[in-house]
Amino acid sequence: MAKTIGIGVTGGIAAYKIVDLVSKLKKDDNEVIVIMTEGATRFVTPLTFKTISGREVLTDLWQESQEYKVQHIGIAEQLDLLVIAPATANMVAKMAHGIADDLLSTVALANTAPVMVVPAMNTNMYLNKIVQDNIHKLIAYGYHVMEPGTGMLACGVEGPGRLPDIEDIYKQINTILNPCQDLAGKRIMVNAGTTCEDIDPVRFIANRGTGKMGYCIAEAAVKRGANVILISGKSTLTPPYGVEFVSVWGAEEMCDVMTKYQPQCDVIIGAAAVGDFGVAKIAGQKLKKTDNRNTKLKLELVGTPDILKELGKIKKPDQIMIGFAAETENIIENAQKKLSSKNLDFIVANDVTMEGAGFASDTNIVTIITRDGQMVSLPKMTKQEVAGAILDKLVEYFNQK
Ligand code: C5P
Repeated sequence: MAKTIGIGVTGGIAAYKIVDLVSKLKKDDNEVIVIMTEGATRFVTPLTFKTISGREVLTDLWQESQEYKVQHIGIAEQLDLLVIAPATANMVAKMAHGIADDLLSTVALANTAPVMVVPAMNTNMYLNKIVQDNIHKLIAYGYHVMEPGTGMLACGVEGPGRLPDIEDIYKQINTILNPCQDLAGKRIMVNAGTTCEDIDPVRFIANRGTGKMGYCIAEAAVKRGANVILISGKSTLTPPYGVEFVSVWGAEEMCDVMTKYQPQCDVIIGAAAVGDFGVAKIAGQKLKKTDNRNTKLKLELVGTPDILKELGKIKKPDQIMIGFAAETENIIENAQKKLSSKNLDFIVANDVTMEGAGFASDTNIVTIITRDGQMVSLPKMTKQEVAGAILDKLVEYFNQK
């Protein structure tokens, strides 16, 4: 669910990296309110953050505000989380001692939402006992303080003090905002999108799979703490942030890649629309068109590997495999056959002819059938909600084991 996140940027060289963080949080549909200290505006212009966050950037405690009756109180009341990144030694000290002498430190005091602090500074400053005491004070107050990265700093010193990777900051934000981390420690491989089978160097056979369902599952699993690898055929979607992403073309390549990763996975979810036929002999050169509309071109097709079936054969005893069955008739019966022939633990069946279900739709209507015969029919839901329901079932499975 979308949240309102305050991003407090203070005056460190790493301030420019926070632009990327704001962009990622916005892509998840969060409302992002950027508050910059005067020092931060020396490194990045408020206009940059305004453009990326889509709202006015706040810099001044005394700024007249149309939006809030009392600006610092109004901002603080809206927040689900306040992130201070990068947090300079000065801001850490002010927060640890309740000093409120600019907009950000004042919002930090008025705020009652969780606070995440990401210190980034010169190594000697970071290791200074006073700074360390202040950091420990913040931790004792219940603030989430991230450890800085270690390496070569902008000032030329090597040691702790680097801003952690934006991906790690993003993950930590999601962990705080989504306390349900019931898939933490699980390695989940999801496939998605349509596979493509070449006809000649410029033409190929694909299908209506868009990747929406698989990408939603991958995203939801990351947010619940899983370590996700997304193997995607053709799709126009942006890979969810935080997944390990492998782009593939045909069914054969998808099968090879998934077989390679199979041994390290706890769960495999097959949401891809894998093409069932490839071209027997791919033309080396572009096939010439003819002027005669009656000319018939014959393409000989051969079967592609059934990826889940292949993985089902080498499935490890503790591994959980989930498939989809997009059907047009005898939904449950056909899905049950696929469940056993592919050695799956459960299968998500849907009638693709129903309104609000299937390929390009934003919603889906599914029935989850388990190996032990349970059957749960869900109402029409968004694909995000279906992803959540599938992962809930998965967690139930883990808990039964
Ligand atoms: O095509 P079918 O209805 O058998 O697909 C059911 C499940 O098997 C889906 O999860 C799909 O991703 C997977 N599948 C596969 N390899 C194929 C065809 C389908 O892994 N060649």
